[in-house]
Amino acid sequence: MSTLQNKRILLGVTGGIAAYKSAELIRGLREQGAEVVVVMTEAAQEFITPLTLQALSGNPVHTSLLDPAAEAAMGHIELARWADRILVAPASADFMARLAGGMGNDLLTTLCLATRAPVMLAPAMNQAMWDNPTTQYNLTQLQSTLGGIYGPGSGSQACGEIGPGRMLEPLELVERLAASFSTGQLTGQHVVITAGPTREPLDPVRYLSNYSSGKMGYALANAAIEAGAQVTLISGPCQQPTPERVNMVMVQSAEQMLDASLTAAANADIFIGAAAVCDYRPMQVSHEKLKKQGDGALTLTLTPNPDIIATVAQRFPNIFTAAFAAETENLLKYARAKRLRKGVHCIIANDVSDQSIGFNSDQNAVTLIDGDSDTQLDQRSKTQLARDLINLLAQKNKQAKDTTP
Ligand code: C5P
Repeated sequence: MSTLQNKRILLGVTGGIAAYKSAELIRGLREQGAEVVVVMTEAAQEFITPLTLQALSGNPVHTSLLDPAAEAAMGHIELARWADRILVAPASADFMARLAGGMGNDLLTTLCLATRAPVMLAPAMNQAMWDNPTTQYNLTQLQSTLGGIYGPGSGSQACGEIGPGRMLEPLELVERLAASFSTGQLTGQHVVITAGPTREPLDPVRYLSNYSSGKMGYALANAAIEAGAQVTLISGPCQQPTPERVNMVMVQSAEQMLDASLTAAANADIFIGAAAVCDYRPMQVSHEKLKKQGDGALTLTLTPNPDIIATVAQRFPNIFTAAFAAETENLLKYARAKRLRKGVHCIIANDVSDQSIGFNSDQNAVTLIDGDSDTQLDQRSKTQLARDLINLLAQKNKQAKDTTP
């Protein structure tokens, strides 16, 4: 199993002779399951053509900040949000200087400024340029702000000199990038996540349900795996691909989800309720297909479903529990009340009156509420949000365990 499966890598290529290695790098990233979008600086295009990198990445190559056609297809802010990681390989001395100076004078520097994803550099340049005090000063700046500086290696250079400044080999860069996704923060912990909708049967061919896509719960499962957890994902019917390395439990109704949750909770450390559980189910499930009642109205009697996360929180007080609260008004007030009502440690509140986030969108923005404070996570991809949430929940779980006598 590769840790780059389904990861979105924005590969920045700047002007240096090592740019020819980008071709092999793209192949390596894709072989590991990553989706790759390439951004080239003007100088990079002197060394290798956008067409080559487009063919290898399978995606259009972006070259200009001010290209109306490219902006219309995928704007630069969208591209910055799309990426899980930005890897600039090769990163030239000039690019490092511009980035260290906070400049946004081309597409690649602008993306590095605009993204919330970690930015990694693989420097490549002549050894004297690398040793130059200005480059070393820029390096020090970048080391404290970027996600990682990979290399450079040392050895014979294209210019005939010998010394530090060689770009690391593509295979090593792929491995370093893959390793950057595993935080190890939840190693040894069992995380249980509910996801997707539930289906409440009415008769053999009909059910009541909702539009939940399951995206947030599945993204949380992937993020928890990245953090090293053992993950049980209890999911209602949805179209999301099964994450690798999870213990997958597929269910239909809320009652089935409750049973599966109580079984999994018996040895869980963290329980996250991301499922959109139907509040009610038909009181009676007909064994026969319900017949149309002439032109008259049909009245269904519904009975409340059990509250899964509240039941887990009550029966297993040692488990760290987090529930979602989707609200259209008074978000924080209702979410705080929900936290107390359900007896959970945290509530992840999201405003579903905003069409651009939530339910079926790829983006979300939430506020995490616990007894002490509110933490706001503004709009980002569900994948990135899931990582940030897992990171926060892992910290809060640790704090809760450390303060429990
Ligand atoms: O009460 P409400 O449906 O707004 O609460 C949402 C949160 O509670 C979500 O985390 C959801 O997974 C969980 N929930 C549950 N069982 C229910 C209803 C909601 O676990 N019956």
